[in-house]
Amino acid sequence: QILILDFGSQYTQLIARRVRELNVYCEIHPFNKIPTITPDTKGVILSGSPCSVRDEGSPDVDLQQFGNLPVLGVCYGAQLIAHKSGGQVLPSHAREYGRAKLTTVDHHNTLLKEIALDGQVWMSHADTIASVPDSFEVIAATPSVKVAAYKVKDKEVYGIQFHPEVTHTLQGKELLRNFVVHICNCKQDWTPDQFVETSVADLKKKLGDDKVVMALSGGVDSTVAAILIHKAIGKNLHCIFVDNGLLRKNEFEQVLDSYKHMGLNIKGVDAKDKFYTALAGLTDPEAKRKAIGKTFIDVFDEESHQLSDVKWLGQGTIYPDIIESVSVKGPSVTIKSHHNVGGLPAKMKLKVVEPLNTLFKDEVRVVGKTLGIDPAILGRHPFPGPGLGIRILGDITADKVKILQEVDSIFIGGLREHGLYDKVWQAGAMLLPVQSVGVMGDERTYERVVSLRAVTSTDGMTADWAHLPYEFLANVSSDIINKVKGVNRVVYDISSKPPATIEWE
Ligand code: XMP
Repeated sequence: QILILDFGSQYTQLIARRVRELNVYCEIHPFNKIPTITPDTKGVILSGSPCSVRDEGSPDVDLQQFGNLPVLGVCYGAQLIAHKSGGQVLPSHAREYGRAKLTTVDHHNTLLKEIALDGQVWMSHADTIASVPDSFEVIAATPSVKVAAYKVKDKEVYGIQFHPEVTHTLQGKELLRNFVVHICNCKQDWTPDQFVETSVADLKKKLGDDKVVMALSGGVDSTVAAILIHKAIGKNLHCIFVDNGLLRKNEFEQVLDSYKHMGLNIKGVDAKDKFYTALAGLTDPEAKRKAIGKTFIDVFDEESHQLSDVKWLGQGTIYPDIIESVSVKGPSVTIKSHHNVGGLPAKMKLKVVEPLNTLFKDEVRVVGKTLGIDPAILGRHPFPGPGLGIRILGDITADKVKILQEVDSIFIGGLREHGLYDKVWQAGAMLLPVQSVGVMGDERTYERVVSLRAVTSTDGMTADWAHLPYEFLANVSSDIINKVKGVNRVVYDISSKPPATIEWE
């Protein structure tokens, strides 16, 4: 495997995704929490960073600990190796941000094998490597960056100033392949099939005859995790699916049905009233999230106590959830309190089993496909744990939920019907705490406003509003106003993230 050390770059996760795309397993660890190097570690990649090596207290690592392992420094990583070896890192004169062309490339060097002269690379740095010591050789340059890539002469240690992980570096993947496959000699054998086989074997060994309880949400992650555990321990996996009264129209029945078809041992729990009671009168988004989270834990706790001898709690945690929590940037990345079931393991005194905690979202989908899960489930848009609870702005009542469910169903149904569902990353409707004047027939109305939201994105961290066809929006709008009592105005949200978030609360 490849060890990626994170110095806090916004692109670190992308490096890992690119390496995984080469079917090579890799893990990200913060620079200050390096795991023990084992014989399985075949090479190390040092990420970029918002810091400068010239600043006091900037992130640092002891390179000796990697022995003779190949090392690739990217941007800050490259500057750090150069700086520590006696090279000079200075503030750049020219702005070095954006596309650049490699005008010198040493093709004899394995790292740059088949990397085109004049090939486009992506730069994003404020410092530049002004000079390298004699023990280094410069292997690539651009017109404004003298040291775009270097190699330490007698070692497999490399540095590159540009970012191979972003798609704007057109041959970034080839360069990473050169490093990972040809320099580190990693086998490209990390595939979804293999993942399923080894995880099922590991889960069997770990869980034995123990019982596992797990909450399912209908989402991709918890479904794939459950099927994987089910494959290992069958009926000893007890699944619970809670109707919190904030799901989409008919979702509870449909999802429960499809879980049963998949052979899962699942119990559906109607807890709508408990949630509505806990939410009554609450308007603050975080207070609503907390109330929903707490009620969920109570319901789940009560249900699982009806099962005897449960030792484990299954969760659909995926890799980005884990990386976020150890990122050098710390908890600032979490702007909203997303992890709704966070308090669960402690309260229930259960050991946690998270079979997907090394996978990225797209990998979870591929694994799901390998497991034979219905593509309709794997292709579902993300849906927040607090559900419609954070799409009804202000306080929540059963009546408002009904209105929003109808609106959402028309919008999502329309997207599916017109082949647009898979073109957007996420979509939904928000019920606004606003009433506006309208006219229907001869009557003046004073009713609710809904906002439709559809975004394109790759990971939800940034998003653009989806440019849905006007014709489609026009039809959906009149459908909603004609069919949903209580709504007389529909607006479409054209804000990108950042600065707006995807959800309105
Ligand atoms: P934002 O609104 O932060 O959303 O741009 C990014 C992604 O996260 C989802 N989201 C949540 N998911 N609990 C969840 O499980 C939450 O409290 C929550 N808030 C937002 C949102 O739907 C989008 O996919």
